[in-house]
Amino acid sequence: MSQLKKGQTRSVTLTLNGNVRSGDCEARTLLSDFLRHELGVTGTHVGCEHGVCGACTVQIDGVAQRSCLTLAVQAEGRRVDTVEGLSGHEDGLSDLQAAFRRNHALQCGFCTAGILMSCDDYLRRKPDPTEAEVREMLSGHLCRCTGYTNIVKAVLETAAERRAAVSN
Ligand code: FES
Ligand code: FES
Repeated sequence: MSQLKKGQTRSVTLTLNGNVRSGDCEARTLLSDFLRHELGVTGTHVGCEHGVCGACTVQIDGVAQRSCLTLAVQAEGRRVDTVEGLSGHEDGLSDLQAAFRRNHALQCGFCTAGILMSCDDYLRRKPDPTEAEVREMLSGHLCRCTGYTNIVKAVLETAAERRAAVSN
């Protein structure tokens, strides 16, 4: 088995928010650090760095995952989406982001990028959640400011809007 030399780097190429991006990193580099420090995409926040707070949540091939528990090299060839890609256009907000703004579902915003990426994935899989189900999903995220109530409202409101749009 070949041995890695200290400080040895390798190239990682992934599709970030629809664009192919490459950078160099060590085998031990976390995806969160690769995104922020190598690719300069800083919307993804880093809190606990051991999978508890959820601040670093991104989507890998459409599934919400902790980028602090993922090595950058594991993302080779994968699709990675971060909060920067959520709106789908440069100056707009997604319906979910707009609902967060309308409902005052954020204060300092440190947790928000991760929560949005989880909620975005969740609502695709679960378009008609109950309040209890939304609260359970949010239990994977720590927010020290909001008390969660307005986040729950924003998620339920987005789900209701999407169902109404489909039925019209
Ligand atoms: S920074 Fe990844 S879960 Fe806290
Ligand atoms: S808005 Fe401050 S931690 Fe959630």
